[in-house]
Formats: sequence, C-alpha cells, structure tokens
Amino acid sequence: MPDMTTQAVAHEHGFGATRRRDLWWLGPVATAIGLLAFVVYSTWAAFQGANYEWGSYLSPFYSPLIFGHGEHAWLQLPAGATHPAWFPLSTAFLVLWAPGLFRLTCYYYRKAYYRSIWLDPMACAVGEPRNSYLGERYLPLILQNSHRFFAYLAVLFILLLGYDAVHSYIWLDPATGTHRFGMGLGSIVLTLNPVFLGAYTFGCHSLRHLVGGKKDCFSHSAGGHTRFKLWSAVSVLNRNHQLFAWISLFWVGFTDIYVRFIACSGHDVRFF
Ligand code: FES
Repeated sequence: MPDMTTQAVAHEHGFGATRRRDLWWLGPVATAIGLLAFVVYSTWAAFQGANYEWGSYLSPFYSPLIFGHGEHAWLQLPAGATHPAWFPLSTAFLVLWAPGLFRLTCYYYRKAYYRSIWLDPMACAVGEPRNSYLGERYLPLILQNSHRFFAYLAVLFILLLGYDAVHSYIWLDPATGTHRFGMGLGSIVLTLNPVFLGAYTFGCHSLRHLVGGKKDCFSHSAGGHTRFKLWSAVSVLNRNHQLFAWISLFWVGFTDIYVRFIACSGHDVRFF
C-alpha cells in the first residue's frame, strides 16, 4: 500500500526541505556515526604497526601478516624493525585495501553512505542537494561496478581468517617448546569473526547473481539442482545483508581491540 505521508510531501524542494514530522534523520545520523567511528579506529590501528598479535592470536586487520616477527609472519623482519625497506608503512596497509573496497562498493553500504555521508538523498521525501540524477553510469561512481571482483577477494579473506581461527587453538607450550591444543576467550573471539564475516560476504548480491543469475529456470540449466540450493542459501543470508554488514563490521573491530588489549596486558582468559 502506498505511503500516503511520503506521497503527500514528495513535492518539497531544496536541500533538506521536507514536511516529514517523523525522526527520518535518526537513521542517517546513527549510520554516519557508526561508519566514521569504524574508519577512524581502523585507520588508527593500521598505523600502529604493533600489538596486533599475541601468541597464536592475530588481529584480522593484519591478516595475512605479510611481514613481521611472530609465528604468523610470512616474511620475518630483523629484530627491532617495524617494516622492510621496500614498504614504509605497517603490513596492515597491504591487507586492508581489499576488504575496505569490498565494503565501500557493497550495495548496502552504498545506500548507507549515500544517505548518511554524501546526503544525496538523505531520505525519502527530503529535498536533495542536486536536481539531476546521474546514477552510477559515469566516473567516479561507475567504479562501484567493480564490486564483484572485490567479492571474489573477500571469499579468499574468509578462508585466511578461518585459518587464523583454527590457529588460535594451537598454542606454543613454553615449558616443552612444542605446540598443543588450547582454548582461550580469544579463540572464541577469533572464531566468531570469520563466521560473521562469512554471513555478510556469502549474502553478497554479486555472489547471489553469480550462483543464480541469468537463469529463467533452474531445472533446465546445467547443475540446476545444486545451483538452486546454492542460490537459496545465499538468498537467506542476502535477506539479512544489512544486519550481517553491521554485526561483522562491529566484530572485526572488536577482534582487533581484543587482540590489542591482551597484547598490551599479557593476559587472556584461558579455559585449558
Ligand atoms: Fe554487500 Fe556484495 S552487496 S557485500
């Protein structure tokens, strides 16, 4: 049924002009605060170049650890060095661009920051800053169409972070110098991270199109049954894409905070 309130005020013109009397601005303001808080924190964490690992735990902002000192590092740095001569920043900058661009070009996040940060449009029946609508057919917004390629990269990151989660249960025993199975609160935190990120990533609109797009009839296409099952599974996650976008964003930040906290304090809650 048409929203009569929205229809009645749809003719208002001028940036921010509206006759709406509801709290339409609350959503964009809350979204802007959430997104900006994450961007500020993750940028700060990436510049630190320290306290991103503790034992078998590794912050997701620094995974995969291209260079470093601990057991996670692909390339070992000399003692005291924070980065190699060929790269002046922390290793996080070699990593974060991929999940960052994946989120930036996500269909849900586009809606979120177009409304809350770009303010165009801020909400239904609220005046826009421009009179013309160019869509995403021209530069720079046409670059949003690269989202599908970042989605493929994001799947790779789920695998890498899944490996980190498994690794968090393998502890070095200082007494014997051997590895053993162990579990701490950090293991649970690191395990939930790829679970939430997977729920977000595998509900991606581009992946949904990849498994089920361009098919008028699943039963008449090659591998139709399997394809239909995949499409149905992705569709379940896709229906809650916004929810998983926020849960996974919060949890990946919290995971970094948790690892950073115990790297500084030296104490984790160990179960066995
Ligand atoms: Fe949101 Fe692809 S549409 S992750």
